[in-house]
Amino acid sequence: MPSKRTALGIVAASIAAALAPAAFGEEYPARPITMIVPFAAGGPTDMVARIVGEHMSKTLGRQIVIENVLGGGGTAATTRAMRAPADGYTIELGHMGTHAAAVALYPHLAYDPVADFAPIGLSAAMPILLLARKDFPARDLGEFIAYAKANPGRLNMAHAGVGSVSFTTCLLLNSMLNLNPIPVPYNGTGPAMNALIGGQVDYMCDQIPNVVAGIVDGTIKAYAVATPARSPVLPDVPTTREAGLPGFEVSAWNALFAPKGTPKPILDRLTLALDQALSDPATRKRLLELGCDIPPPARRGQQALAALVRSEIERWKPVTGAGCQNSYSSCTRNVRSNDLPAAANSKPAL
Ligand code: MLT
Repeated sequence: MPSKRTALGIVAASIAAALAPAAFGEEYPARPITMIVPFAAGGPTDMVARIVGEHMSKTLGRQIVIENVLGGGGTAATTRAMRAPADGYTIELGHMGTHAAAVALYPHLAYDPVADFAPIGLSAAMPILLLARKDFPARDLGEFIAYAKANPGRLNMAHAGVGSVSFTTCLLLNSMLNLNPIPVPYNGTGPAMNALIGGQVDYMCDQIPNVVAGIVDGTIKAYAVATPARSPVLPDVPTTREAGLPGFEVSAWNALFAPKGTPKPILDRLTLALDQALSDPATRKRLLELGCDIPPPARRGQQALAALVRSEIERWKPVTGAGCQNSYSSCTRNVRSNDLPAAANSKPAL
């Protein structure tokens, strides 16, 4: 026969069990969710996070709070996201840099994008453009290449840190053209774009959402979009093929990740909320107006993102090379133009 104290304990445990959520996944989310953005506010990742996060907040019935965590070309934020409790209350909008290219750029990267993260889903693909300050003395891509070659080591190139999309895609461009600029790092292409508009830097490779307004206003110059077809939001900007650099075709992507170990019902809830955001007409309109490509339903979801991350890590390895985290010139030394695989120059199939 149980003692009085044991009996009381049993009763208390029964009450606690009755008050507990019926199932972990059913109660989620019970409080706001933090979405970590690994770059500065106002840049392309931040824009997508805020647009998609707004709709997901409505669907989930809880606010998604954007937290911009800066440094290390997005790797500081991604390390923090990896270490967050795997309870669905911290997720990250990572991208082609943080969850693919950084693997080869940082031999001692604190996280493994495959082993340490649970994919939620792909959110958008982002065409890349080659841009210059508005008074840069080159009218088109051919003139840009000629000018850059005639001024070795003199041009300033803005980027968002080693491992960022702007760094990685311009690394590819510079390697193809044998350019050796002075790299100027920022905590995101939001602030890098301000420097380009202000004329403090000469050129940059950037994702489309961050560049449309500046091109339309004439505060920056666009030489080409690195996709096979022109962007509907920038119909006057030629493709790299049209402008005479057919080998430079590259498009970035961003996607939602949770720390590994996040319970499957919670992941499924988040995946569904993202899918609903990407199918919502008003959300789609906002993303399309910024030039983003929205993944079709078959390319959304956890498995598709897991496969994309694996293939993107391999795709960028030959381009970025190992051991070039210390300086841009050590990176460029690792890449010779004839090393560049055709696969690295193609847009990930959405
Ligand atoms: C940003 O949001 O600032 C960009 O994604 C940075 C980059 O990767 O170039």
